[in-house]
Amino acid sequence: TLRVGILTSGGDCQALNATMRGLAKTLYNCVDDVEIIGFKNGYYGLMHEKYVKMQPKDFSGIIDQGGTILGTSRQPFKYMRVIDDGFDKVAAMKKTYKKLNLDALAVLGGNGSLKSANMLAQEGLNVIGLPKTIDNDTWGTDYTFGFQSAVDVATRYLDDIRTTAQSHSRIFVVEVMGHKVGHITLHAGLAAGSDIILLPEIPYDLDVIAKKIKQREKQGKNFTVIACAEGAISKEDAKLPKKKYKAKVAARNGQSVVVGLGEDLQKLFPAKEVRTAVIGHAQRGGAPDAYDRAISTRFGIEGARLIMNRSFGRLVVLKRGEVDSIALEDTAGKLAYVDPEGKTVNNARLMGVTFGDK
Ligand code: F6P
Repeated sequence: TLRVGILTSGGDCQALNATMRGLAKTLYNCVDDVEIIGFKNGYYGLMHEKYVKMQPKDFSGIIDQGGTILGTSRQPFKYMRVIDDGFDKVAAMKKTYKKLNLDALAVLGGNGSLKSANMLAQEGLNVIGLPKTIDNDTWGTDYTFGFQSAVDVATRYLDDIRTTAQSHSRIFVVEVMGHKVGHITLHAGLAAGSDIILLPEIPYDLDVIAKKIKQREKQGKNFTVIACAEGAISKEDAKLPKKKYKAKVAARNGQSVVVGLGEDLQKLFPAKEVRTAVIGHAQRGGAPDAYDRAISTRFGIEGARLIMNRSFGRLVVLKRGEVDSIALEDTAGKLAYVDPEGKTVNNARLMGVTFGDK
């Protein structure tokens, strides 16, 4: 019997189920005798022996289902601390893996979870990773599943805000997910036609934003919708030591950057009404779009192929349109940022989009 464990770890996203389905269906189809064990709530299930023996029917009818049928939790090794209150997490996971006599473990996870997957691989477990996150910030792959669906949600939201902003001649600052990287904001901003796109990678200057709004007004465009990443930051704040910036955020009750930016803009445009809006977790919810379903299915199949070929310690990736894999240790601990000098950003500047810096 080939015994394969699966877990979904970290923030959820669309197409987790589609990915597991692709992997499971391939294994059931290609291997005569296979047993799939689903760990509940991510690494927690592996750590505490919480699992279910999956049946082929469990993977049926879930290709378009959001969330994860297994449940998830944030990755367990905050600050990569493996022993908490005397409880050795890695030893506990290894114990479950051995007890269940697993041949392989498939981890569907983003950056933190893949770092943990690499750690388990280095401890001798047969691990493969599948690149999950709406943020599209996993190093070494052109795509992480969930991204396109999240961009779709954010785009629709920005579109909807535009009609009401236009009716009321208002300025809107809309928060898009992405704490450290701005891929969702960049793509949803472009898709929704935003003239001002603010990313964590490009600190903004309030005067530049104000100038753009005034320019729009001069052209008779009496409304503005700013696509603003969760992690967007002003030039001044970017210079602050991390601790000081954290204290500043705490002083606005931990509220997001859009609140501060909204207040700043209201002061600069007293005659206009400024509103802020946060899209939030809807960006991770609901059904995956067609692109995510297809790519996740392809990722899942490749994951199964790696397991069948006993090619472990690998992460399934997309490279120039084809599925492939890279070593988990090559991606662990790295993030794929938006390139501030890349063509996507620079070309957008050509049509007048400002990223708040110039
Ligand atoms: O990594 C996915 C993500 O949705 C980020 O875009 C966002 O910054 C974060 O997770 C939100 O985390 P939580 O689910 O803990 O609120």
